[in-house]
Amino acid sequence: MAAEHNEIMTVFKYQNSKAMRDVFGRPFRDLRISVTDRCNFRCTYCMPAEIFGERYEFLPKKDLLSFEEITRVTRILLKLGGMKLRLTGGEPLVRNGVEHLVAVLAELDGASDITMTTNAYLLPKFAQKLKDAGLQRITVSLDSLDDEVFKKMNGRGFGVKSVLAGIESAEQAGFSPIKVNSVAIRGVNDHTIVDTAHYFKERGHIVRFIEYMDVGNLNGWKMDQVITAEEIVEMINRELPLEPVESTYRGEVANRYRYRDGSGEIGVIASVTKPFCGDCTRLRLSPEGELFTCLFGTKGTGIREPLRSGASDDDIETIIRNIWTARTDRYSEERASMTKPRRKVEMYHIGG
Ligand code: GTP
Ligand code: 5AD
Ligand code: SF4
Ligand code: SF4
Repeated sequence: MAAEHNEIMTVFKYQNSKAMRDVFGRPFRDLRISVTDRCNFRCTYCMPAEIFGERYEFLPKKDLLSFEEITRVTRILLKLGGMKLRLTGGEPLVRNGVEHLVAVLAELDGASDITMTTNAYLLPKFAQKLKDAGLQRITVSLDSLDDEVFKKMNGRGFGVKSVLAGIESAEQAGFSPIKVNSVAIRGVNDHTIVDTAHYFKERGHIVRFIEYMDVGNLNGWKMDQVITAEEIVEMINRELPLEPVESTYRGEVANRYRYRDGSGEIGVIASVTKPFCGDCTRLRLSPEGELFTCLFGTKGTGIREPLRSGASDDDIETIIRNIWTARTDRYSEERASMTKPRRKVEMYHIGG
């Protein structure tokens, strides 16, 4: 019965009749809000420490959308088909008072899911506050359980313990299950993938291994660094037998597999080898109020100036509709046939 209900909800969710549609008929459904471009980590594939040093100039406060501005845009987007909200960064927990934003967003009509992606370092301080504010789910980024590997990958020498403490505080606050995002990079953390799967299998959380992507232009991505989703599944399946499971909803980013012994599941996000642009329903709002219709976009459309110069809700709605209805993005599907490199927004700016 529960499964049936879920399926009905799934179809309903995807076919939201109010949703604006793009040139390919893709409805708008998910709003990903990056609340800051700052982060306390320096992951080598996202904010390499040699570029993002002490003197790096992040956005000044006056350029960030205020919580009121974010709320206003969100309210409008919920009328245009938005249902799922995800707060990201940078690291969302370094934005002062982010729990207050969660509380206001959670009160808005139409948001059926409100979640956050965090590196978990600050979660012990925030988990309970976020839960009380109405956050429904949490995804934690953790690339390896091996201290040496993780310290190198996060670029700041933080040990695994700090992240595990964050996960534990989220468990205690009542978030369950917790999703764990783990980026797989050849020659960096391949040898720790099975251990990661094993650890979270025991604890009932869902790890999603993400193929390393060529987001932005700073990380020096090369195709041969990508450990494919297929390889990842094979690696884990050899030690912990797996079987595929249906998606929870159309357009789900992760392909799901469950352990044959019935003790939970993993996901693999094959954004490089099996792009999912055909079902992409995501719109991203950057910290300074630019709307991006693709993770690999070159440029967003600024919404801050209209917000600050007296535009009405109808004006803002028209701007947003014009952006979405003109949308033709399908970068991951086109990557292989592209001849020239493209200038792309960086991950820390729009949060994955
Ligand atoms: P759930 O609602 O829990 O299923 O989360 P989600 O599927 O929205 O996953 P999440 O936001 O955690 O995304 C996981 C990762 O997938 C992101 O951090 C990105 O690395 C990647 N990803 C998410 N959306 C897109 C997308 O639209 N395009 C590409 N190429 N990658 C994406
Ligand atoms: N490829 C794949 N995943 C990435 N992430 C950040 N940069 C990349 C990349 N180049 C992941 C982070 C985090 C989420 C926001 O996106 O690890 O879990
Ligand atoms: Fe920070 Fe996340 Fe980027 Fe790592 S991947 S530097 S935790 S924003
Ligand atoms: Fe969507 Fe762009 Fe990712 Fe394709 S590459 S799934 S269009 S965000």
